[in-house]
Amino acid sequence: MSINKVAVLGCGLMGSGIAQVCAQAGREVTVIEVSEAYLEKGLGCIARQLGKMVEKGKLTAEDRDRVQARLHGSTRLDEAAGSEIVIEAIIENMEDKNKTYSRLDQICAPETIFASNTSSLSITQMMTATSPERQRRFIGMHFFNPVPIMKLVEIVRTILTDPGVFRAATEFGREIGKVPVQTSDRTGFIVNRLLVPYMLDSMRALEEGVASIVDIDNAMKLGCGYPMGPLTLGDFVGLDTTFYIANIMFDEFKEKRFAPPPLLKRMVMAGLYGRKSGRGFYDYSDPNNPQPMNLL
Ligand code: CAA
Repeated sequence: MSINKVAVLGCGLMGSGIAQVCAQAGREVTVIEVSEAYLEKGLGCIARQLGKMVEKGKLTAEDRDRVQARLHGSTRLDEAAGSEIVIEAIIENMEDKNKTYSRLDQICAPETIFASNTSSLSITQMMTATSPERQRRFIGMHFFNPVPIMKLVEIVRTILTDPGVFRAATEFGREIGKVPVQTSDRTGFIVNRLLVPYMLDSMRALEEGVASIVDIDNAMKLGCGYPMGPLTLGDFVGLDTTFYIANIMFDEFKEKRFAPPPLLKRMVMAGLYGRKSGRGFYDYSDPNNPQPMNLL
């Protein structure tokens, strides 16, 4: 079973990347957003990314045009009808997701696979908003930021997922150029289960005076060969997002290592969300030369 028609719900940072990757892999993609303004912003972001690839000689102008022609934008959820897989990348709110899934269940054909890009919410809980038959066709497909660059996709099954659907989704992940890893619906899957405590520990190390922001980042970057230090990565992912994920994981496992440190909580309360708000562990007033903040 080859999956050719894709609907992507949400055209933010993750949704636009997912739509771009699917269209580059030759899939017909319908991108659905809640408003024209969000849709335009997301499609504009894809056009810019593709434009950069043309400038760098990684894509010809003709191929860029073919990719663009495979991308269709809409603000109507019923445009997802006819898709073989729906990849949902809307706001991380269970109520909003479940309302959307319940409507989608009526709109899409019985065979359509539903896949959520959630990083920390329960796929099983989302699945319950759909009919018993769809529940067998419900999975997680968790991509990483920046989606066009990061090679990984986590394919997540629930206890009800049909093994054939799990295999088809894994194969689809491979066909769109990613390296799929298979896991089951446990909060954080593989990556966040390991990454989130590491990021939180780097914040605790800062709070405890182990070293400065720059030295903690340099230590892990140069000592372990990571592309970014953990505090830079926190700013990149978004500290509000990191705080949100940590709280969900702490709630699930009740283990200290998932508890957000007080410094993170205060930074989020103060609106220091990282790159997206201009300040986090670093000040991005000059984006090419971020300066560490004085936080303690
Ligand atoms: N979107 C698209 N392309 C991007 C990009 C972006 N936001 N940022 C950088 N790139 C591209 C650049 O254009 C460049 O492409 P070329 O090789 O074609 O020139 C390439 O990526 C490398 O970029 P740079 O040379 O500018 O910088 P870099 O080598 O430091 O790479 C990076 C940037 C890819 C972001 C790298 O630092 C990295 O891998 N960082 C770690 C990212 C990471 O861990 N992501 C996962 C976060 S966790 C998550 O997403 C899941 C969750 O649930 C929270």
